[in-house]
Amino acid sequence: MNNITKICCIGAGYVGGPTMAVIAKKCPHIKVTVVDLNEQRIAAWNDPDVSNIPVYEPGLSEVVAEARGRNLFFSTDVESAIDEAEMIFISVNTPTKTYGAGKGQAADLKWIELCARQIARVAKDNKIIVEKSTLPVRTASAIKDILQHTGNGSQFQILSNPEFLAEGTAMEDLDAPDRVLIGGDSTAEGQNAVQALVDVYANWIPRERILTTNVWSSELSKLTANAFLAQRVSSINSLTELCEKTEANISEVAKAIGTDSRIGPKFLKASVGFGGSCFQKDILNLVYIAKSYGLDEVADYWEQVIIMNDHQKRRFANRIIKNLYNTVNGKKITFLGWAFKKDTNDTREAASIYVADHLLHEQADIAVFDPKVQAPQVYADLDYLRTREPAENKSGVTVVTDPYEACKGAHAIAILTEWDEFKGYDWQKIYDSMLKPAKVFDGRNLLDAAKLQEIGFQVWSIGSSI
Ligand code: UDX
Ligand code: ADP
Repeated sequence: MNNITKICCIGAGYVGGPTMAVIAKKCPHIKVTVVDLNEQRIAAWNDPDVSNIPVYEPGLSEVVAEARGRNLFFSTDVESAIDEAEMIFISVNTPTKTYGAGKGQAADLKWIELCARQIARVAKDNKIIVEKSTLPVRTASAIKDILQHTGNGSQFQILSNPEFLAEGTAMEDLDAPDRVLIGGDSTAEGQNAVQALVDVYANWIPRERILTTNVWSSELSKLTANAFLAQRVSSINSLTELCEKTEANISEVAKAIGTDSRIGPKFLKASVGFGGSCFQKDILNLVYIAKSYGLDEVADYWEQVIIMNDHQKRRFANRIIKNLYNTVNGKKITFLGWAFKKDTNDTREAASIYVADHLLHEQADIAVFDPKVQAPQVYADLDYLRTREPAENKSGVTVVTDPYEACKGAHAIAILTEWDEFKGYDWQKIYDSMLKPAKVFDGRNLLDAAKLQEIGFQVWSIGSSI
C-alpha cells in the first residue's frame, strides 16, 4: 500500500482544511477529499468565491482556488470518501469534556469514536488511519480496538501524525515545517504504513525533517510540545505583574532573556493570556493523564500554567475596572480584537471572551471590533460560557464593523488581539471622539504608548509601569 493515490480527511476545520489544501497542492497525483458532517461548512468550502471559505488563514484561499476541483474536493458524503480512500486522516474536534468523569479536563473522544465506528462499518479493504487531531496518549489503541472488533475483516494500521501548525501562519508552517512527526507500530505492517505517510510528505519536505517514532511517543510529544509553548507564555506573563510593581519593563526583560541562545527569543511576548483550541485543552489533558497515573506532583506542575493564564485574563479585566474609578457600570469599553491571535478568525478560548465576561458581570457596555470575526461568533462565544442569558449578552455587547465607530464615545479601549492594522489607525481621530480622560489598555503591547500619551491618552501597557 505504499503508493497512496487517494486520501480522505474527516473534519474540515482549522486543521483538516489547510493541511489537506497543502497536501493537494504539493501532491497533484493524489486525490484529496475533505469531508464533514456540517453541510454549511462544506458549502462554504465549495463557495465559488474563495474569500468565503470558512477558515481565514493568509494564503489559504489562493491554494484552494488552485487545487479545488482538480485534486482537492470538499463533500458531506463521508461514507463514499472513506470507501474510496487508502489513507484516512481523522481531523475532528476533541474538545474538553463538559460532563461526567474528567469534566473540565479530559478530552471528549465522542467524535473520534464515531469516526472509528463509521470507518469500521464502511471500509471494505485495508486502510491506513492517521490521527491528526490532538488526542490524549493511548487514543490510538482505543481506535484500534473499535476497528478490529467491529470491522468487516479489513486490516487497519493506525498512525499518529500530530499537527504542529499555528493558526495565522498555517500555510507557512505546512509549507516548511520544523519537523513532521509520524508514530506507528513496530510491526512490518506498521512500518509499511509509516513509510506510506513518509512518502506523501517527502513530496515537499526533506526526509531528515520527517521524524518517526512509536505511536505513544508521537501522541505524547504533541501534548507536551504545546504544554512547553504555553508554559513559556505563562512564564513571561507571570513576570508582567512584577514588572508593573518594580518599574522593570517586560519587553526589555523578554529581550534580555531571549538573547540567551539556550532560551531563544520566540514565544516570550507578554499578553492578556493565551487562547486557542490547543494550549488549554492539551495541558488539561496532560494534567488529567498524570493524575490518572497517580502522578500528582506532575499534574500540579502543569496545572499551574493554566492557573497563571486564568489569573492574567482576570487581572487585565480588574485593571480596567480599577482604573475606571472602580466602576464600569454603563461605561462604554471598546475591544479592539476578539480572535485569540492575529491573522485568524478563530476565537476558541480567546482571552477576549473571558475579559468580556468579567466586565459584563460589572455591567459594562462593550463594543467589539475585529477585522475577521463576525457578530454571531462573538455572541456564540459568550453564550457558550452560560454565565448569563443570551439576551443579556446581546444587550451588553455590540459588535461594530467600523473601528472608528466602535471607539466613538468610549471611556476606554482595550487591545485584545495584536492585529497589525490597529497600529495604523488615526489615533488622534479616535482620541477626539472618545470621552475624557481617554484610556487605552494594551493587552498585547501593540501600540506605541509614548505616541498615544503625546496625543493625550492615558495608557496602560501590560508589564510596564507607565
Ligand atoms: C499552537 C501551537 O503553536 C501549534 O504548534 C499547535 O499545532 C497548535 O497550538 P496556535 O494555538 O494556533 O498554535 O497559536 P500560537 O501561535 O501557538 O498561539 C497560542 C496563544 O498564545 C495565542 O493566544 C497567542 O496570542 C499566545 N501567545 C503566543 C502569547 O501570548 N505570547 C507569545 O509569545 C506567543
Ligand atoms: P480543528 O481546529 O481541530 O480543525 P474544528 O472544530 O475547526 O477543529 O474542525 C473539526 C470539524 O470536524 C468540524 O467541522 C466538525 O463538524 C467535524 N466533525 C466532527 N465529527 C465528525 C464526524 N464524525 N464526521 C465528519 N465530520 C466531523
